[in-house]
Amino acid sequence: SSSKYKIFHQQNLMPSKKLPSVLIIGVKKGGTRALLEFLRIHPDIRAAGSEVHFFDRHYNKGLYWYRHRMPPTLDGQITMEKTPSYFITQDAPKRVYHMNSKTKLIIVVRDPVTRSISDYTQVKSKRPNLPKFEIRAFINGTNIVDTNWAPLKIGIYSKYLDNWLKYFPLSQLLIVSGERLIADPVIEITRVQDFIGIKRVISEKHFYFNTTKGFPCLMKSEHRAIPHCLGKTKGRSHPHIDPDVIERLRNFYRPFNHRFYQLTGINFGWA
Ligand code: A3P
Repeated sequence: SSSKYKIFHQQNLMPSKKLPSVLIIGVKKGGTRALLEFLRIHPDIRAAGSEVHFFDRHYNKGLYWYRHRMPPTLDGQITMEKTPSYFITQDAPKRVYHMNSKTKLIIVVRDPVTRSISDYTQVKSKRPNLPKFEIRAFINGTNIVDTNWAPLKIGIYSKYLDNWLKYFPLSQLLIVSGERLIADPVIEITRVQDFIGIKRVISEKHFYFNTTKGFPCLMKSEHRAIPHCLGKTKGRSHPHIDPDVIERLRNFYRPFNHRFYQLTGINFGWA
């Protein structure tokens, strides 16, 4: 009957696709997949499965296109998406602001030196004849750090954060420690749940530490009822890098790291 329909409609028991109100915007290799997979355990969270790349690659397709990339949600459920390249996209802050100035932004950061090696390891797995990290990191034959090389450029977090802070107050950003997401996932996931404003549902009982993999893994998730870890491409072993090169990169990042600690009010302790 029509009255039945009315109630059904008013309470919005019909799932529908909505624009995201929370975004994981970066950083690449920071632990963004782990964070999203952990969050998906929560019954009030629905997230797009793969990276949508709306605010960087597909912006010209418009918000209607974007909304239709989202999973259907019920009233009270939060729509999310993660695309780590948003963090370094010049126009992304303005574009996200234009969609919804109240969008909550999450950034998972990690020691930029380790992050660069992680990034390199990923590129190398697809292009085996890539030069050694120690060679590629510097402008040919010099000791000048090649800041145009993406694996190194992305680690200058303070530069990109400055760009986001032109549009969003710090209170609308949550910076997650990628290191702590591995060492103590519950602490970080609790901060994230509080920031989003959802009940603390994800807890100790959802995790176990897989000693073979050396990473926290899930007892169950949105789509799998059995214990499992993230895929083989998450938590790869890194090549050994010349300690002198590591030292030079640490020196390079130090001032940017300190500026990042100042901007965020958090000392990540990356040395
Ligand atoms: P490595 O493979 O270099 O160790 P992203 O998903 O943003 O690309 O980040 C990948 C990184 O997530 C991995 O980099 C790994 O260190 C980190 N990570 C954090 N928690 C993890 C987990 N529970 N399982 C696997 N990798 C995890």
